[in-house]
Order: sequence, then C-alpha cells, then structure tokens
Amino acid sequence: MSGRSSGPGRWTVRPAQRLRGELVLPGDKSISHRALLFSALSSGEQLLGGLSRGEDVLATLAALRAWGADIEERPDGLVRVGELPGGRLREASSIIDCGNSGTSMRLLAGVAAGQPFETTLTGDESLRRRPMARVSVPLRAMGATVDGREEGRLAPLQIRGGTLRGISHRSEIASAQVKSCLLLAGLFAEGRVEVREPSRSRDHTERMFQAAGITLDVSDEGVAMEGGQQLSLPSERIDVPTDLSAAAFFVVASAILDDSALELPRLGFNPTRTGFLDVVGGTERSDLRTQLGEPRGILHVRGESDLRRQPLKLSGSLIPRLIDEIPVLCVLAARCEGVTVICDAEDLRAKESDRIATTAAMLRAFGVSVEERPDGMRIEGRADRPLRGGCSIDSHGDHRIAMAAAVGALAADAPVEVTGTAAVETSFPGFLETLESCVER
Ligand code: S3P
Repeated sequence: MSGRSSGPGRWTVRPAQRLRGELVLPGDKSISHRALLFSALSSGEQLLGGLSRGEDVLATLAALRAWGADIEERPDGLVRVGELPGGRLREASSIIDCGNSGTSMRLLAGVAAGQPFETTLTGDESLRRRPMARVSVPLRAMGATVDGREEGRLAPLQIRGGTLRGISHRSEIASAQVKSCLLLAGLFAEGRVEVREPSRSRDHTERMFQAAGITLDVSDEGVAMEGGQQLSLPSERIDVPTDLSAAAFFVVASAILDDSALELPRLGFNPTRTGFLDVVGGTERSDLRTQLGEPRGILHVRGESDLRRQPLKLSGSLIPRLIDEIPVLCVLAARCEGVTVICDAEDLRAKESDRIATTAAMLRAFGVSVEERPDGMRIEGRADRPLRGGCSIDSHGDHRIAMAAAVGALAADAPVEVTGTAAVETSFPGFLETLESCVER
C-alpha cells in the first residue's frame, strides 16, 4: 500500500457519547496558500488574518521568502505581506522544499515557470511520488523548461521560465491545483490562457483573482484569462475563513454520535467545497457574509440517528466538491444503513496516500466490510452497530486518514490506537485537543 510509512506520533482515542460546544477551526488551507501567494505577487501591502499555520501553508510561506518576498509574522497573529522588493521575485539560493504539500508544489511551479531564473521544487517521500506531469506538460507547452525525475513526471522539479505564451489546455482531471498553476503562469504569459476540466474543481483562485482586479471568463467548461495581467489585491485586511475540510471531521463526528450539537463560526461556505454538507444533512447556516468573493458564516451542526437511515451516494460532479472529505465520509458510510458506493474518485489514489487503499484499510480495522474498486469503494454500513474498537490504525503518513480514524474511534465499542499522527501537523495542529475539548463521555 502506498503512503508514507507510519511515522511518529500516536493517539489513543476513547469512545464518546456526543459532541457539544463552539469551535473555532484553523484557517482554510487552500485559501491560506492563495492569500499568501497572491499577496506576495500583488501590488500594495496586505494584512492577512486567520491564516492556517499548518506545515503545508508554512511551506508556501517559506518558499515565497526564499524568492525574496517581504512577509512578516506579527506578534498580534496577523501576517503582513509587502510589495516585492524591486518589483520582482529573485532566484532562491537553495532548492525549495514543499514538504508534504501538493498545493505548494503545483502552484509554485506555475509561478516559477514565469520567472527568468531557475527553481528546484522538492518535497517529502509522499510528495515525490505524486504525479507532476499534469503541471509539467502544460507548463512546457507554455514555453517553460521543466525537468524532473522520470522526465518531469515526478519531483524534484527543476523549472526555468521566462515570458510564456498562452495555452488552451484540457485537463483530464478536475484539479484546482492544475487550474491554479496555469492561471498563475498566465500572469507571466502573452496571449490567452484557457483551462477546461471535466467538472468544476474548487474556485478559490478565480474568486481571489477577480477580487484582485483580474478579468476572467468563467463558464461551466472552465476558465480563461488574457495573459500578462497584474494582481492588485485591495489593501484592506484579508480574513481567511475557517476550513470546511477541517469542519468535516466534526460534522461527521456529530452525525455518528446522537444528540450532538456544535457551532462552527467563521466557516467558509464556498459552494465548490460544500459537497459534504449536501450529503450529511442536519446542518444550518447563519450570519452569512462575503469577503474577497469567499462566503462565510456560522455552521450549526446537530447529530441524530435519522441522518443515518440511508447509505451515501458519492459520484460524478459531486466528487471534486468533497474530494478531501471522502476518508471521513467513509466513516459515516460505515454507520449509515445500507451499501454506500463511491465512484469516479480515481484521483484519490494520487493524494497524500493512496486514499482508496488507506481508507479501505482503516474501515477493515474497524470491522467494516469494504470492497476496493479502481475508482472508489463499496461499503456495507450498519446503523445499529458500533464500529469495532481495540484496533490500531496507521495514518500511512496521511493527515486525513489519522483524523478520520480518530472520528471513527468515537463511535467504536473500545478505545482505538492511531499511529503516524504527526502527519496531522500539515493541516491541523492541535486537532486532537480540539476534538477532546468538545467530546462528552
Ligand atoms: C487543493 C486542490 C485539491 C485538494 C487539495 C487542495 C487546492 O487537489 O485535494 O487538498 O488547494 O487547490 P487537486 O487539485 O489535486 O484535486
């Protein structure tokens, strides 16, 4: 099975009765990467609030500093991003390590392709196994030189750029990382950049580009822009909403523990990310506002057994809208009556671990009957039976597997050990403490 081998960190999670309380979750990871990157490239100075401090976002921050960006982490928790000294990025004096973060590597690759110097992007063992041809092939077509292991299919990637030409690219997969990579390269291109995808992936880049004065044509098929436009974010403070993907662990935990009630303030509600809320049900939103194109508000969550009368159905254009939530939705599926079928999700095999294999292994450890398929899974759910505890579940170096296993443990019949939990630092430092703070036993 692929994925980093176990790695450090271990939790013992005990069964629980219910979840109660108000939780302020970390800043949205996808939006945090973009807020930092786009502010660094933007004219003017920006002040960012609520940024994720997970290792993934810190990798983007460190990369931008290595390229000469003026970024200050202030004692009040805000991050100030100034204009680029001399108006341009400069060559980094060393290779740039993206750690475990695919978003860092693919978005930075798009920027690197537009620079008249060389950049080497590497990452940890998991990231060096993930597919990079999806960005290196179109970046070459735009005129960049991209080398790497296996002819640029794997990192480390070595990129030498300059002025690029436009491209009309049809991506085989719905991927916001690919789309964002090419739109970022488009900032340094002459001509039109068009990206089409089989169904719509998350659109944070489009929303923030538009808020930064970029003219984009967005349609059902994809997105297009004229190259060479300059990002110009407003100099008001930018507040990153809290992370819907982090919320999913608490929403599912509430759905499998009857009588739960949670409030999650300042949560992002971008419709390209809310697929799991459509599937789980039992939630309400209030205090809705929008900043820089990103809707946000309070999510009210309640848990009751009615939510688990039927299996889930996850396929088609819904998949990109809940791709990162599938491991924890599978825990819910195991507690819903009937057979859940997941299809059209083959790209799960190219995430931080092979998430079809690692999620199926987690469910088996919980005593659930599951069949792996090339593009998904078939899960036999039982609403009337707790998951089987007393087991040990390894994260395979994948933060979302560790957190999904902890959620499953709450609805098990005995404590569960989760290993390889240090991976959770990539997206949600303090996850277990946050979970324990709202658990009632
Ligand atoms: C992300 C896009 C998705 C998602 C990842 C974050 C982003 O990846 O799974 O966690 O911020 O653009 P893909 O673009 O590979 O689908």
